[in-house]
Amino acid sequence: MATMESLIGLVNRIQRACTVLGDHGGEGMSLWEALPSVAVVGGQSSGKSSVLESVVGRDFLPRGSGIVTRRPLVLQLHKIDGGSDYAEFLHTPKKKYTDFASVRKEIADETDRITGKSKQISNIPIHLSIYSPKVVNLTLIDLPGLTKVAVEGQPESIVEDIENMVRSYVEKPNCIILAISPANQDIATSDAIKLAREVDPSGERTFGVLTKLDLMDKGTNALDVLEGRSYRLQHPWVGIVNRSQADINKNVDMIAARRREREYFETSPEYGHLTSKMGAEYLAKLLSKHLETVIRQRIPSIIALINKTIDELNAELDRIGRPIAVDSGAQLYTILELCRAFDRVFKEHLD
Ligand code: GDP
Ligand code: NA
Ligand code: MG
Repeated sequence: MATMESLIGLVNRIQRACTVLGDHGGEGMSLWEALPSVAVVGGQSSGKSSVLESVVGRDFLPRGSGIVTRRPLVLQLHKIDGGSDYAEFLHTPKKKYTDFASVRKEIADETDRITGKSKQISNIPIHLSIYSPKVVNLTLIDLPGLTKVAVEGQPESIVEDIENMVRSYVEKPNCIILAISPANQDIATSDAIKLAREVDPSGERTFGVLTKLDLMDKGTNALDVLEGRSYRLQHPWVGIVNRSQADINKNVDMIAARRREREYFETSPEYGHLTSKMGAEYLAKLLSKHLETVIRQRIPSIIALINKTIDELNAELDRIGRPIAVDSGAQLYTILELCRAFDRVFKEHLD
C-alpha cells in the first residue's frame, strides 16, 4: 500500500517540476499554490536561518548577525531511499553539490549576483533542492528578517519592502507559518507574531517558535510563552536553542549542536518537564505531521487540479506537437507523469 510519505514525495516533485517550468505560484490558481509549504518569519537575527538548518539537520545556510538573508530561499527537501546527501540549485541545473559548505557559499554568491554586495534585498527567490535519506519531504522558505529601521546603505523603503515580501508568502492560505521570536525579547513586541496574527488570525497555520532560550536574563524563564499563556496558538509552542555566534565561529557542527540542545532541555530546572516537546528535531516531526494532515485534507482539491492540469498538459503537448526534444516539453512530460503517478498512488492509498 502506498504511504503518505510517497504522496508527499510526489507533491514535492510536482512542485519542483512546476518550478522548472516557471510556475512559482504567480497569478491565477497554480498547482504550486495548491500545495503546502512552510515559511519562516521573524525579526532580523531572531534565528530564522538557524532554525531552518536545524529542522533540516544540515549546515548549509548563511547565517550570522545583521541582514544575511537578502533573497527568499525556496528549499525543497526530497527524501531518497539511500545514498548520500546532495543538493541542486535551479540556476545551476547541471551541477550536483555534495559539499554543503559550497552550497552555503553559492547561496551567498547568488544573493550578491542580484543585490550586489550591499545590504539591498531582492524578492527574486533562490531555488534549492536537497536530496537525502534523512530528511522529511518538505518545502521550506527562508525569508529576510522583518526590521523596524533602515541601516546605512539601505533605502528608507526597505522596512516596508521586506514586510511586503514576507507577507506575499505568508498570506497564501497554503503557507504554514513558522513564526520565530527570540526569548530574550518581550513576546508582545514580536514582529513574527504581529504578522502571523494579521494573516492567520485563528492561528491554525502558525507554529510559534521561541529561540535563544539560553540567552534569557538569569531568574527569568519562558514558561508563560511555551505553555501558551502569553499568546495562545492552535499548535503548541516549541522552544529552541540554536548555536550561538561563538559556536558558529568555532564551527560547532549540527550533531554537536543538537546534542547540546537536548542536554539543555534535559538538565533544565524550568523546562525539564517539557523536554520531549522541545527542540528542532521535535519541531521537524511536528511540521511533517501537520503537513500530512493538510495534504490529506487537500487531496480532493489537489486531485481536481491535477486532473485539470493533465488535460491542460495534454492540450499543450498536442499544440507543440509530440514527440518534442525541447526542455519545456520534457518538463511537461515529467509533470504529466508525476500527476498520473499521484493519481494512481492516491487511489491505491484509498484501497
Ligand atoms: P536570522 O537573521 O533570523 O536568520 O538569524 P540567524 O539564524 O542568522 O541567527 C542570528 C544570530 O543569532 C547568529 O549569530 C546565531 O548564532 C544567533 N542565534 C540564533 N539562535 C540562537 C539561540 O537559540 N541561542 C543563541 N545563543 N544564539 C542564537
Ligand atoms: Na541574521
Ligand atoms: Mg537569515
